[in-house]
Amino acid sequence: MMLLGNLLSLALTLFSFARCVRGDIFDDVIAALTNATDCASCHAVVLPVFQTLAHLGNDAFTGTITDVCQALNLADDDVCAGEMQRSGLILAHSLRQFTIGGTTATKFCDAVFGLCQPPPVTPFTVPFPRAAPTNSTRIVSKGRTPFQVVHLSDVHIDREYTVGSNANCTKPICCRDFADGSGTSATSDQAGPFGNSKCDSPSTLAASLVQAVEDIGANAMFSIFTGDVVEGATWLVNQSEVSNDLEEWNTQMLQGIRLPIFPSIGNHDSVPVNSFPRNITNTTLDPQFVFDVQSSGWKVWINDTAAAEVHDMSGSYSVRVPGTNLRIISVNTQYWYKQNFWLYDTDEQIADPNGLFAFMVQQLQIAEDSSERAWIIGHIPSGKADTAHDQSNYYDQIVQRYKDTIAAQFFGHSHKDQFEIAYSDWDNRNAQTADSILFIGPALTPTSGNPAFKLYDIDPDTYEVMDMKVFMTNISSPTFQENPTWELYYSARASYGPLVGSLGPTDSLNASFWHVLTDVFTANDTAFQLWNTRQSRGGAVSACTGTCKTTAICDMQSARSENNCDVSTPGLQFRRSEETLQRSFESDECEGGGIGSMMKRFLAGRQVTRRSTT
Ligand SMILES: *[C@@H]1O[C@H](CO)[C@@H](O)[C@H](O)[C@H]1NC(C)=O
Ligand SMILES: *[C@@H]1O[C@H](CO)[C@@H](O)[C@H](O)[C@H]1NC(C)=O
Ligand SMILES: *[C@@H]1O[C@H](CO)[C@@H](O)[C@H](O)[C@H]1NC(C)=O
Ligand SMILES: *[C@@H]1O[C@H](CO)[C@@H](O)[C@H](O)[C@H]1NC(C)=O
Ligand SMILES: *[C@@H]1O[C@H](CO)[C@@H](O)[C@H](O)[C@H]1NC(C)=O
Ligand SMILES: *[C@@H]1O[C@H](CO)[C@@H](O)[C@H](O)[C@H]1NC(C)=O
Ligand SMILES: *[C@@H]1O[C@H](CO)[C@@H](O)[C@H](O)[C@H]1NC(C)=O
Ligand SMILES: *[C@@H]1O[C@H](CO)[C@@H](O)[C@H](O)[C@H]1NC(C)=O
Ligand SMILES: *[C@@H]1O[C@H](CO)[C@@H](O)[C@H](O)[C@H]1NC(C)=O
Repeated sequence: MMLLGNLLSLALTLFSFARCVRGDIFDDVIAALTNATDCASCHAVVLPVFQTLAHLGNDAFTGTITDVCQALNLADDDVCAGEMQRSGLILAHSLRQFTIGGTTATKFCDAVFGLCQPPPVTPFTVPFPRAAPTNSTRIVSKGRTPFQVVHLSDVHIDREYTVGSNANCTKPICCRDFADGSGTSATSDQAGPFGNSKCDSPSTLAASLVQAVEDIGANAMFSIFTGDVVEGATWLVNQSEVSNDLEEWNTQMLQGIRLPIFPSIGNHDSVPVNSFPRNITNTTLDPQFVFDVQSSGWKVWINDTAAAEVHDMSGSYSVRVPGTNLRIISVNTQYWYKQNFWLYDTDEQIADPNGLFAFMVQQLQIAEDSSERAWIIGHIPSGKADTAHDQSNYYDQIVQRYKDTIAAQFFGHSHKDQFEIAYSDWDNRNAQTADSILFIGPALTPTSGNPAFKLYDIDPDTYEVMDMKVFMTNISSPTFQENPTWELYYSARASYGPLVGSLGPTDSLNASFWHVLTDVFTANDTAFQLWNTRQSRGGAVSACTGTCKTTAICDMQSARSENNCDVSTPGLQFRRSEETLQRSFESDECEGGGIGSMMKRFLAGRQVTRRSTT
């Protein structure tokens, strides 16, 4: 009895001590977030408080930042709790490892709070087995009939989508029976049978896509899928759900699409979202289960050797498409993704996480030596603000070295129909220096426009893109909820060819073509606005003029992220017009309401509408 009493009172003392410590640190966190304005204050004010909190342990850390999230109304209470419990562990881990004032700390302040600009690129020269051949002869088109390839991306299938539930909720995605009752059936804005623009894709919409690929892509040779299977309810996901989601989509594609499929892993395809620790990190949160599931699910399409690479090479693989001279190199881009918070867990600047650049070089060298051409496919395109400047720079070194081998690159992630260009001379970006082209998206999920996919015409000798056609289904159509129909939206060759001019029948839509098109966009606003509408397939179009337009064109000319015109927000001195602020929030969409976008949203708005704290 006595012992128990003592223990009890000790526990109570410890509890109130813990609560007191947590109370103080809670106020400190609020003060730091309220007062931080720039990179210097991130180092001086924000990081010390967050590091102190992280050293109190994972539970104290996640508990406090959940309280802060709820008190500042950054999201619904359940979203705050689920998000902080999941990704908070990763933040706490990294906060315990880096030194305030250092390069990693600055990168952390950029990625999590938007308070610092990315630091200058850490110089690193990617090693190559040999120099580019001086006498390489460009593979030319023989004018043979092109073959077709289907490009799918960002399906984000919500297997718990509930028809009739409330589509107009306050969470990052809706159309589910949420535990807090906010998803219960609505009368005004109901989840329809085939989807809603505030919700991720129901499986019926995924089935409709699969059928459209069978019909429209009936004569295609193969398909690529550039990642993001899992839906955006990131505050609820767990390992068994992610495994099931990946397996179900693999099965749905296998049973519904007769084409071989060459897939990639997306940032949503792990637990927690964006969680891909490097092999230097000692953690039990291991994404190996993702590589295992995909290694066995993809084996049927990519062959056993490539499937073993998926298992061993952190989800990446390389394989020659049977019957062609084309090698597909699929890379797990998440190791270069700024919202992968594991990347900040050492002061050392790791140039090549898990050896993925070395793998790319090895495979591109094989392609060059065998006179193959290669495509690089992956989830996150190398030029956007969310790719680490260091790794984007090293990636570009590889692209420049093997530019004659790489025929094209294909990515997703932004949910938009976009492109990015790489240049041999980044200080002189023009049609002559343009030398590699990245094709991006679009998404199936209706959250950022109408559901869509691409069908390419590919030259069978150069493996360059002769045409890019976008097919979409219109969620606003009166018949969409009964029977979505998929139609040609536009052909890039038919629509943009005449604007660029002088496109001969055997000329491909190569990097030079797209560069000239960016010049057309600058001069011809009608053409630019057409492109802007098409980004989201005519749905959820945001106006884009002035800074938005120049930034958008700059971003097209920036397959290397240090060259894009995006500015990290917010730091008061960086605060931009509402228009550009809104644009940067849109690009946060693919973060799925993660901690980074919540923090940045708060800091940008500083709506200090604190609720009574609990
Ligand atoms: C911000 O900093 C000032 C000066 O250090 C301090 O007086 C103020 O209380 C801080 N703001 C908050 C919300 O704590
Ligand atoms: C969605 O909810 C908001 C806030 O409750 C309301 O103002 C709006 O009218 C609703 N929209 C629809 C389409 O029901
Ligand atoms: C994982 O999530 C699924 C779907 O939300 C749920 O049914 C299941 O109970 C969860 N599993 C665990 C172990 O929490
Ligand atoms: C990894 O972490 C575990 C658990 O914290 C610990 O026991 C082990 O010693 C660590 N291993 C290394 C190599 O640091
Ligand atoms: C898979 O394809 C590659 C060519 O990309 C080939 O070298 C390898 O032998 C194939 N593996 C199997 C098991 O067929
Ligand atoms: C991590 O990957 C790199 C590159 O492949 C490799 O050299 C290193 O041995 C790996 N480290 C561990 C701990 O597995
Ligand atoms: C693109 O094609 C045009 C016409 O064939 C050619 O002049 C130009 O050099 C090509 N550009 C690249 C980057 O291959
Ligand atoms: C500008 O672009 C529009 C839309 O593609 C096109 O119809 C028009 O002819 C272009 N104007 C010029 C001067 O090229
Ligand atoms: C989609 O359908 C709506 C309603 O019929 C129509 O107003 C809109 O123009 C269509 N969008 C596209 C891109 O065709």
